[in-house]
Amino acid sequence: MDFKLTEEQQMIKQAARDFAQTDCLPGVIERDDQQKFPQDQIKKMGELGFMGMMVSPEYGGSGMDTLSYVLAMEEISKIDASCSVAMSVNNSLVCWGLEKFGTEEQKQKYLKPLASGEKIGAFCLSEPEAGSDATSQRTTAEDKGDYYLLNGTKNWITNGNSASIYLVIAQTDPEKGHRGINALIVEKGMDGFVVGKKEDKLGIRGSDTHSLMFTDVKVPKENRIGEDGFGFKFAMKTLSGGRIGIAAQALGIAAGAYELALKYAQERKAFGKEIMRHQAIAFKLADMHTEIEAARMLVYRAALDKDNGESFDLSSAMAKLKASQVAMDVTVEAVQIHGGYGYVKEYHVERLMRDAKITQIYEGTSEIQKIVISRAIAD
Ligand code: CAA
Repeated sequence: MDFKLTEEQQMIKQAARDFAQTDCLPGVIERDDQQKFPQDQIKKMGELGFMGMMVSPEYGGSGMDTLSYVLAMEEISKIDASCSVAMSVNNSLVCWGLEKFGTEEQKQKYLKPLASGEKIGAFCLSEPEAGSDATSQRTTAEDKGDYYLLNGTKNWITNGNSASIYLVIAQTDPEKGHRGINALIVEKGMDGFVVGKKEDKLGIRGSDTHSLMFTDVKVPKENRIGEDGFGFKFAMKTLSGGRIGIAAQALGIAAGAYELALKYAQERKAFGKEIMRHQAIAFKLADMHTEIEAARMLVYRAALDKDNGESFDLSSAMAKLKASQVAMDVTVEAVQIHGGYGYVKEYHVERLMRDAKITQIYEGTSEIQKIVISRAIAD
C-alpha cells in the first residue's frame, strides 16, 4: 500500500489549487449571490484540461487517472463548488459514460467537444416523481423505427441551460420495467426540447439547475447509448463513478472550510490569546482534521478501485456517504469557530455550509448510498 501521490498527481493538485485561487476565488461571493453561472471559469477549465480529465487524448481528453481527477475536484471545490459540480457532471456522468459505452460515431461527434470543454454536458435522470426511485421513469422514448419520440419532463438538471449535449434516460417499453429504459443523446436546439425554469437554490447557487421539457422530440436511433434496454444500467454504472466525483467535491468543501477555520483560529484572539490556544476550539479542529483525513482515504480508495479495474459500486457509495457527512459537520463547525464573522458572506464559510448540503442529496441521497452499501455487504 502506497499513500504517496506521484509527481504528476502532485502537479495536477497544485495546478488545480492555483487555478481555484486565481480564477475561482475572485467573484465567488457575487456569483453565489446573483446565481451567476461561472462561464469564464468553466471555459478556462476546458483550456486547462479539467473538463475531460479521464478521457483518452484520442478524443481530446487529458488521459489522466481517476485519482488525479479527484485531486483536482477537491482543490476546486475548496473554493467554488458551483464550478466543481459542472466539472464533475461533465467528467464522470457524461464523458465517462460516452467513452465507455458510446459508439465510435458518438465519441467523434459528442465526446470530443465535451472532453475539450468546447461544449458542456448534462445527465438527465431525475423527474418530478422519480428521484431516489429511479426506475419509475415517466419520460417516454417511443420506438418509431429509425428514431425515438421523446416526451416528458426532467427535474433538477445540473448544467441545465449551459449544456448543449444531454444524456436523457427514458422509458421505451414499460412492460419490461427497468429493462425497457434507454439512454439517448439529445442536443439543445432539437425541435420540441425546451429548457424550463431555473431553480433558486440554498447552495451551489452559481450552478444552473433547470427543469427540461421534451414534447415529441425526434431523437435518431443512432443516438441511443448501448443496446436497446441498456439505459437503466447505463445510468447506474455511470452514477457509481459520478459518486466518486461528488465525494471529492464534499471532501473539498470540508477541507476548504477547515483551512479557513484553522487560519482564523490562529489569528483571532479572545481572553488574551489566539482562540486556537483554547481547548474548546483546538479540539474542534482536531476532530475536523481527523474526519477529513478519514473521508479522504475513502475517496482515494474508490478512485483507486476504479483505476485498478475493480468494482467501485461499494467504495464509491461509502466515499460519498462519509465525505458528504463530513462536509456537513465540518462546515457547521467552521461557521461556529468564526462566530459572528462566520455568519456573514465575506468569510466564505457560510457559503461552504450551504454548498455542503447538496452533497448528501444529489447523485443518490445518503439513504440511497446506505441501500447500495447494505445490499453489497449482504451479498
Ligand atoms: N451497475 C450495474 N447495474 C446495476 C447497478 C450498478 N451499479 N445497480 C443496479 N443495477 C441493475 C440491477 O442489477 C438491476 O438489473 P437486473 O434486474 O437486470 O439484475 C437493475 O439495475 C435494477 O436494480 P435494482 O433492482 O437494485 O433497482 P432498485 O429500484 O431497487 O433501485 C437504486 C436501485 C440503487 C435505489 C437506484 O434506483 C438508485 O441508485 N437510485 C438513486 C438515483 C440517483 O442517484 N439519482 C441521482 C440523479 S443524477 C444527479 O443527481 C446528477 C446531477 O445533476 C448532479
